[in-house]
Formats: sequence, structure tokens, C-alpha cells
Amino acid sequence: MCGICGVIGKTNVVPQLLTGLRNLEYRGYDSCGVAVIADGTIHLRKNVGAVEEVEQKEQFQELEGFIGLAHTRWATHGGVTRANAHPHLSCSGDFALVHNGIIDNYRPIKAWLKERGHQFLSQTDTEVIVHLIEEYFRESGEIEPAFRKALARLEGSFALALISTHDPHTLFCARQESPLIIGVGNGNMYLGSDMNAFVEYTREVICLEDGEYAVVRRDGVTIRQMQTGKRVVRACEQMPDEGYTINDKGKYQHFMLKEIAEEPEVVQKALEIEDEAIIRLARTVAQSAHVYLTGIGTAFYVTLIAQHYFARLADRYIPALSSDEFPFLAQVGRGSTVIAVSQSGETIDTLRALRYAKERGATTAAVVNVPSSSMVREVDQAILQGAGPEICVLSTKSTVSQVIILLRVALELAVLEGKLEARMKEQYEQELASLPALLTDLIASLPAQVRVPAYEYAKVHNWFFIGRGVYSAVALESALKFKESSYLHAEGMSGGFLKHGTIALIDETTSTAAFVPPPEEKELFALTLSSIQEIKARGGFVLGIHQEGDGSEEKFFDAEIVLPAVSPLVAPVVALTAGQILAYYTALALGRSIDKPRALAKSVTVT
Ligand code: M6R
Repeated sequence: MCGICGVIGKTNVVPQLLTGLRNLEYRGYDSCGVAVIADGTIHLRKNVGAVEEVEQKEQFQELEGFIGLAHTRWATHGGVTRANAHPHLSCSGDFALVHNGIIDNYRPIKAWLKERGHQFLSQTDTEVIVHLIEEYFRESGEIEPAFRKALARLEGSFALALISTHDPHTLFCARQESPLIIGVGNGNMYLGSDMNAFVEYTREVICLEDGEYAVVRRDGVTIRQMQTGKRVVRACEQMPDEGYTINDKGKYQHFMLKEIAEEPEVVQKALEIEDEAIIRLARTVAQSAHVYLTGIGTAFYVTLIAQHYFARLADRYIPALSSDEFPFLAQVGRGSTVIAVSQSGETIDTLRALRYAKERGATTAAVVNVPSSSMVREVDQAILQGAGPEICVLSTKSTVSQVIILLRVALELAVLEGKLEARMKEQYEQELASLPALLTDLIASLPAQVRVPAYEYAKVHNWFFIGRGVYSAVALESALKFKESSYLHAEGMSGGFLKHGTIALIDETTSTAAFVPPPEEKELFALTLSSIQEIKARGGFVLGIHQEGDGSEEKFFDAEIVLPAVSPLVAPVVALTAGQILAYYTALALGRSIDKPRALAKSVTVT
């Protein structure tokens, strides 16, 4: 949700700013801009479009300066226009500022500034900040006090960075609920929303905490608390080498397909995560009176899938709550544990849920892919997925990795609680061990079944995705993947739910993708086939996603995706991957912007 990059160096920093900008683009891509100081003036170029497009329009590389800021935007306040793109300038043009977050009280501040003669060029909440700093600078003639005074007036969430011609050797930055880190290396100093802003230049990082601001010069960083001005001493941390963006699609047309193809490897990595970390979390769960799972979007659907594994393997009902609703429902306190799931580790809804729990004395844990993320730093126990950078805005490989990790926790919990015999655990582990090879075959063979029919699927504007038991969660996730990639309307639900309302919409113009469980799951299998018959009876088209040789196809489907016959333990993962491949080829048939769908962003850092 907006990417911030800042650099100060002893040579031209524009190449580093542009690399940072490209690497941060997954955080938002409706417009972008760059500002540098040269010859005592701020030079600003910005425009609407993805980074590559704007780079060409604006010829960013022509800029030169030893200090600068770059920003890629995901619009919150104000449409996608050049004027609303960041950086924003103050009236005098002496200050330039970039921001990620939302300033809740920007309206009264704007009115107050207008009374003092400030002129605004955009509809953004951000622009008020730079004018406010300018206003306070007029009073004191000093940037840092003006910056701090302005920060004190802001309500909401922000990561922001400022440069000024009045001190062209300093980057000013601050963090409140939106991520911001400082990179130290090669005689340069960097600012970034995350490591991707400067990963090609340094892994030495100083992390700002909420409520702190920093004054960054080439020879050092001073961090202070916004409220008190008290100095904070914080050492550099060396970030791990893995988990950052590499903008290389290899032989693939899209990152989405590349990342799906990486799933066998990613599952293997999830299976190789040290037992110690998995058992530690299982033990925490075992010892907790109340446990919740939380996440949002795909990560929430992962928790719903995990909920089924915990219930089935360990006889433990662990409620899964969407993290945006978590504070309104969860009853947490000492003795409770909250397990969050997040690819980015920066999703504000999930961070807020964790903070809410922590403030009330709960233990917090998270399954996260990005090692340098806020969530990894904030929780009591973090399990790093090691799935490698996921560039496509749509989660695929990180999703299956999260499922495997939580499935492993469920297995260990089952052992700890005496619900699983050693012999059964061994069998399950063997089934899991066979999954990478299974997925390799599936990913190689499934496109042949899906690619051509996808042109027909692309013509259907209303889709339903159904499943029973754990497949209801698979259906929800597959519908989300389908809609965000293809922009076709897709609703996921349990098959049982369909007849309580949605069935009114079923007719010959609608299609339903139905996930059929393995036939060994007799009850679920039969229930799913009943739901399918109810749809067929109303003229609906049914795409059956079922296992080879299960007999279900004989009577019911208008079209089918045939999956290999695998055990009930791993079948939901195979079905998830199939749903991703279906979404990919349907979006491809429609010529959609698959890796960067409209209106989305990889890291959602605003509420
Ligand atoms: O980084 P997170 O896993 O916390 O992100 C959560 C959701 O924003 C994310 O999964 C979103 O739903 C994706 N677009 C799914 O493909």
C-alpha cells in the first residue's frame, strides 16, 4: 500500500531511487514520482501509471541529485491523477514529502492551513503534512522542530519521508502504524517501506518503531520519540538474505504462473522447517485456554482451512476470525494465544488484531513469509515460511506453504494431546512428503485441461464456487483468486449454504465450480453431489473439480477438471492449486493484468 524509498549519498542517487521504486511497485501501482534536490532546488517528476510507464513518460533518469525520494501510490484519498501522485511539495517548493497511510484529521488541518494562505494542488490527505511542516518552519526556521510539531498534530497512520532545500544533507522520516525502515550501507543511507527499497545495496537495517521519527544523514541516524523528543538508541540489524523481490519472471509470462510452478519447492521448504519451531507453537496452543487463528483475504482462508485440520487431526476447535473483525469479536487475555497468518507481515488489519491481543496479555504467533516484516518483530513466536519473494499481487505459493505449516502444527498438537498414534502420524508425514512430487505433476499436466475451456469460462459473468467441509474454505479462496485475477463475479460458499438463498440466482447463465472431496470422505462426497444436483435441477452449469476415478463425473458435470486421486489429508492442497490454475488461465483468456490486478496491492497497510 504505497511504497516509499529515500536515498542520501555522495554521488547521484537517482539510479538507486529508481531501483527501489521498481522493487516497491507491488505495494501500489496507480501512479509514482521522484523528487531530488540539485542546485538548491527540488526537482519533481510524477505521473499516473505503473512505474515503467511513468519512467518513460517522465524520463526519471534525467534527474540528478545526492538526495531524493521516490513513491509508488495506491490511492486512498483523491483519484488517480498526476496532482494526487506523490511526492507533494509545499507552497514554496522547498519541502517535498511522500507518505503511506491515512491522516484521519486532514480536513481540519487543511482548513486551518488554508486560513493561513496555503494553496493545495491535490485532494490527498498527504499534502496537508508538507504544508503543515512548512507552516511551522516559518515560525522557527528549523526543520526538525517544525517536523516534530507537525507530527504531533497528525492523527491516523503514517510512514513518511521529507526532504528540504533548507537542509539538503538530511532525510527526515517518521513512522506511526505504517512500516518504515532505514538502510545503512556503502556510504549511503536509505529509507524504505520494506527491504525491497534498497535490498540490492544493503542488508544492514535500523527499524523504526511506531511513534518514532528519525533524522538521517550520511554519517549517522538519530531516532527520537515523537511525543517526548527523547532519543532512542537502536543498533543496526543484519537482515537475512532470503525473501525479497527479484523482478525476474524467468521463462514465465507472469509471476503468478512462475510462483504456482514454485509450489512443489515451497511445500518442501515448509516441510523442512525445523520441528522445534512447529512443536513450540503446538505446545503453546496445547497450553492455552483460548486460541484464535486470524488473517485477512487469502490469509484468512488459509486459517479457515487450518481450522478444519485442527478439528480433524487434533480434535480441537480453533476459531478463525478475519483480522479486520478480530477486535470486535475475540475474547482474549492472559492464557490466550492468537496465531496470525500473513505473507507480507505488514497487513495492518492483522497487525492490529495482534496488537489488540498483545495489549490484553495474549501470546501472539505468526506464520509469515517476509523475514524483515513488522509482524516478525512484534510477535512472540514467528514461523518464517521461507517461500521466497512472491511478486504477483495474488497469493499462490505462500498460500500453500501456510497451509502446510499449520497442518504440521495441527499434527504436532494431535500428538501432544494424545489424539494421534505414532503410526498414523508417520503415515500422514509420508503423505505430506509425497506432495511436492504430486504438485509437480499437477502443475505440469493441469494447464492442458484448463487452458482451452478457460476461453468459455471467461464468457460467464457470474460464478459460484462451492465445497463442503474443508473444501468450503478451498471454495472461498478459489473464488477470491478467480475474481481478483479475472474481474468476473465469483462467490465462494459451502455447498450447504447455497440452498439458503444464493440458489435463487442459479440459472443457465451462471456457472458453479464444485470441489468434490475424495470418495473416502463418504459424507462430504455425498453432500457435495447433492448440492451439485440442486444446481443442475435449476439449469446451472457445473464445472466439477474432482478426483480421477471417483465416479462423480458420470452423472453430473457439464465440464470437469480431473485431479489425481490423493489422500484426504493432502487433497485440499491439490484442490487449492487447481483453483489457482483455473483462475490464472481464465484471467489469461480475458487478457487481464494478472500480476497487478486493478485496485489491488500486495501489501495492504491501510485499514
Ligand atoms: O500479506 P497478507 O498475507 O497479510 O495479505 C493478506 C491479503 O491482503 C492477501 O492475501 C490478499 O487477499 C491477496 N490479494 C490474495 O491473493
